[in-house]
Amino acid sequence: MKLDQKIIVMTGGSSGIGLELLRRLGSNNTVINLSRSAPPEGLVANLRYFTQIETDLSDAASVASAIAQCRQRYSQGIDGLINCAAVQFTPRFTDSQFAASTIATEIAINLTSPIEIIAGLLEALRRRPEAFILNVNSGLGLVPKRESAVYCATKAGLDNFSRGLRAQLEGTQVSVLQAFLPLVDTPMTEGRGTGKLSAQSVADSIIGGIEKGVADNDIGKVKLLRAINRLSPSLANRIMQKGDA
Ligand SMILES: NC(=O)c1ccc[n+]([C@@H]2O[C@H](COP(=O)([O-])OP(=O)(O)OC[C@H]3O[C@@H](n4cnc5c(N)ncnc54)[C@H](OP(=O)(O)O)[C@@H]3O)[C@@H](O)[C@H]2O)c1
Repeated sequence: MKLDQKIIVMTGGSSGIGLELLRRLGSNNTVINLSRSAPPEGLVANLRYFTQIETDLSDAASVASAIAQCRQRYSQGIDGLINCAAVQFTPRFTDSQFAASTIATEIAINLTSPIEIIAGLLEALRRRPEAFILNVNSGLGLVPKRESAVYCATKAGLDNFSRGLRAQLEGTQVSVLQAFLPLVDTPMTEGRGTGKLSAQSVADSIIGGIEKGVADNDIGKVKLLRAINRLSPSLANRIMQKGDA
């Protein structure tokens, strides 16, 4: 599907990879972004059909309100949904600063809210002749690292959910796609990791994958990680648990 003159709902358009997706999609598509803060004014000024819906994805009532607003405003249907927002809390369970209260928040933002938004907007997506759902995933959804165990679990859950939903929607005009990212240079990874890809190049790869209808779009080193994991899951685990990401 060519991403031109489409109606696209996305999360996470205020920062990092989501911001780069918005920059690319917003000039020739109608984009509705759900996040707590708005994208920079300088960018928004150049977007013709942009709507910001202030949303806290950790709060079920805020998510429900955003879904209702999207459904009401775009009763003609929605062509695409990009679930990009996520958080990654880094303290280990054994660290003194680890707070158990962050577990529910991380799961709500990374896993529960994308599933709820999909459920809430599916009818609108089914109203179009062709539509897509793109869940932004991570190599860490395939093989976990030592840090951020909850984050890794949410991404593994998102993968499992996406594959199940893909099977449910087989034979409909709604494609369920994922993009699996390696380490990318964004505020999420500030101060850690090396050899990061730029958010700009990753946004280009994500959009290319959507336009080609790639079901699981492995970007950069994730291609190799998936291949190693297929041949030797224990080797893949050892590699990831030695990493500095
Ligand atoms: N960076 C990487 O190395 C990397 C690697 C693999 C996968 N990914 C995935 O790529 C996606 C984008 O990550 P990024 O690196 O671009 O992150 P980022 O720069 O930290 O941006 C995170 C986005 O999530 C939104 N968000 C966070 N908490 C929220 C909340 N409570 N309610 C609503 N929105 C919230 C933020 O918006 P507000 O703060 O305005 O609410 C922001 O737009 C994520 O799914 C991440 O898991 C990233």
